[in-house]
Amino acid sequence: MKKSQTPTQNDQSTPNPARRETLKSAALLGVAVGAGVAVGAASLLAKPAGAQVKAPATAPATAKAGGDLAILNFAFLLERLELNFYSQAIAADTAKQYLHGRLHEIVPIIRDNEAAHVAAISAAITKLGGRPDTSARFRFPREVFISPITFTRFAHTIEEIGVGAYLGAVGQIQSDALRGAAASIYGNETRHVALLRNMGGYTFSPRYFESPLSVAQVQSLVAPYVA
Ligand SMILES: [Fe+2]
Ligand SMILES: [Fe+2]
Repeated sequence: MKKSQTPTQNDQSTPNPARRETLKSAALLGVAVGAGVAVGAASLLAKPAGAQVKAPATAPATAKAGGDLAILNFAFLLERLELNFYSQAIAADTAKQYLHGRLHEIVPIIRDNEAAHVAAISAAITKLGGRPDTSARFRFPREVFISPITFTRFAHTIEEIGVGAYLGAVGQIQSDALRGAAASIYGNETRHVALLRNMGGYTFSPRYFESPLSVAQVQSLVAPYVA
């Protein structure tokens, strides 16, 4: 029998938290002005390089050609991947009840965070004259959704990619408003990593400084999960 959900001390336990956070993030992202060339996320994933697991020590190259809109499109793909991952995890839990204890409370909260990120970035893409690309589909190893350990270890890996991707992108963003918004989401993603690492039995903060990932590195790391 699962534990019923209980209020947490997370500030998102207030009424309509997802909507409130979405609106706040959308407002942050929505102040960006200007137009760019639409660069679909699919094109950024077209030529994944070989698998790389080590982050570079120096600032990475990113999707300079499309400017802020290209970066937003890539972030949109990654946020959709995260949202899809947690949605699949919750659907599997409905059938298998493998998210025990606090995980049963935490995972829907992270899922709602990701939904807010997706909505905010979608709004920002539209604001810049682009079109959010929702064509990508996602698949994850079936064994991820069978136990708390397999789930948390995979989930924190996905989150680490997101953290590295935002850190790699933030210095490349031209708009001050978008850079601030990206830093805001980055901060939220680091909470996910720390919590999931802790739940998975890992040291919650294994290093003094976070490492950026280049677009090519992120492409290769997420390619197995993007259909
Ligand atoms: Fe996210
Ligand atoms: Fe996340």
